[in-house]
Amino acid sequence: MAKRRYAIVLAAGQGTRMKSSLYKVLHPVVGKPMVEHVVDQLNHLKLSELITIVGFGAEKVKEQLGDVTKFVTQEKQLGTGHAVMQAEPLIGSAEGTTIVVCGDTPLLTKETMEALINQHEAEDAKVTILTAKLDDATGYGRIVRNTTNGVEKIVEHKDASEKERNIKEINTGTYCFDNQALFEALQHVTNDNAQGEYYLPDVIEILKDKGEKITAYQTEDYEETIGVNDRVALAKAEKLMRTRINHGHMKNGVTLIDPDHTYIGMDVTIEPDVTIYPGCTIDGNTVIKENATIGPNSEIKNCEIGSGTVLKQSVAHDSKIGENVQIGPFAHIRPLSEIGNNVRIGNFVEVKKSVFEDGSKASHLSYIGDAEVGKKVNIGCGTITVNYDGENKFKTIIEDDAFIGCNSNLIAPVTIKKGAYVAAGSTITKDVPENALSIARSRQTNKEGYVEKIKNRKNK
Ligand code: UD1
Ligand code: CA
Repeated sequence: MAKRRYAIVLAAGQGTRMKSSLYKVLHPVVGKPMVEHVVDQLNHLKLSELITIVGFGAEKVKEQLGDVTKFVTQEKQLGTGHAVMQAEPLIGSAEGTTIVVCGDTPLLTKETMEALINQHEAEDAKVTILTAKLDDATGYGRIVRNTTNGVEKIVEHKDASEKERNIKEINTGTYCFDNQALFEALQHVTNDNAQGEYYLPDVIEILKDKGEKITAYQTEDYEETIGVNDRVALAKAEKLMRTRINHGHMKNGVTLIDPDHTYIGMDVTIEPDVTIYPGCTIDGNTVIKENATIGPNSEIKNCEIGSGTVLKQSVAHDSKIGENVQIGPFAHIRPLSEIGNNVRIGNFVEVKKSVFEDGSKASHLSYIGDAEVGKKVNIGCGTITVNYDGENKFKTIIEDDAFIGCNSNLIAPVTIKKGAYVAAGSTITKDVPENALSIARSRQTNKEGYVEKIKNRKNK
């Protein structure tokens, strides 16, 4: 029978090196708090129990993670060994394998975690340490090996001798333990070290001295193992995670003209043959369908964008945009808008909470808010739906085939019926009947020769 598997995530520290009022593990990497990355990956493994140790900012961390994990509070942050000990009442006597992961290693993948557990169980070891080789190992615990290349102990940077500091192999902070051996060994950990803390890595030496089997699993992908202690590492993690996401999309057939300047969130779906120009930020639950072209310099959040649509230098949030739509440059699609197929939303057009049915156009300089625009409507340059009286918002309805002349004000609530025309410069306050032409502006008068008269007056 397969062994039962448990996971413990360490997330109780304050993270003083971040110099932040936000608790360290809540700092986002590509928009998602670090600890959530870790918990999400762990949740892909078949675990009997997932326990997150919280302390600093416990309420905030719990709120963020929700019920995908159990929580145990570490009242005083006395070190990583002490943190793990807090899980004892829940799983201390259980038989099985326990993986321990730090909440500040957001790049670690489920594949690596799984490989670690598999090796651990195949070797029947008491501990398997996930290690990596780094050119600059500063700050990390070092893996001290003996003459036969077995792991002897882990020594923290602050406690390491000059010679030990030259070791390039680091403790990534992720380990697999035989659960019972772990909790037994934790009883013997002391805080006799440079930081006065109960170090979890000390368990290794304790088990070693008991003659137990200690192994290491060295990952080639050292970038996965980065521990984020300060903002420099945070920026590095952000970059690595973006690179990982962007590579995934490119491998799936998406063209990124400049992946170093393309910012795509964790939960974005992009179909093949989409092209994304530099300077785009694409976030939330966005879906972009095949053959669409996005950017340069566009911001999209929580949108669905249909195939063949082109969106340039524009912002779109929480909206649905159809197929073969032209948006921008410099358009703003605000939340709850629904744009049909073959629509054009042009330069400096702002759309808010409005529906545009198929084939309609607002090509230049308009504000369309709280409106329902039918099919094949043409909205002339400078048209404004006047939707707000200072207290309430009202709806503008423009039915199929209507034509709104330039620089019109449509004072809501108002309906422009099917096929009606509104003359340029009109301020429309009443409904316009089907197929009518509505003119709501003062008539032009030309005073012949009047300029001569003024000039003569001046010259006197
Ligand atoms: C730790 C390891 C080090 C390893 C490195 C990898 C120890 C003593 N050192 O060092 O060998 O190379 O991770 O990134 O374990 N935490 C608690 N309670 C505490 C203290 C810490 O929950 O009392 C949590 C923190 O929130 C953090 C994690 O444990 O998520 C690691 O703590 P941190 O202080 O970052 O340890 P490092 O100095 O990075
Ligand atoms: Ca750390």
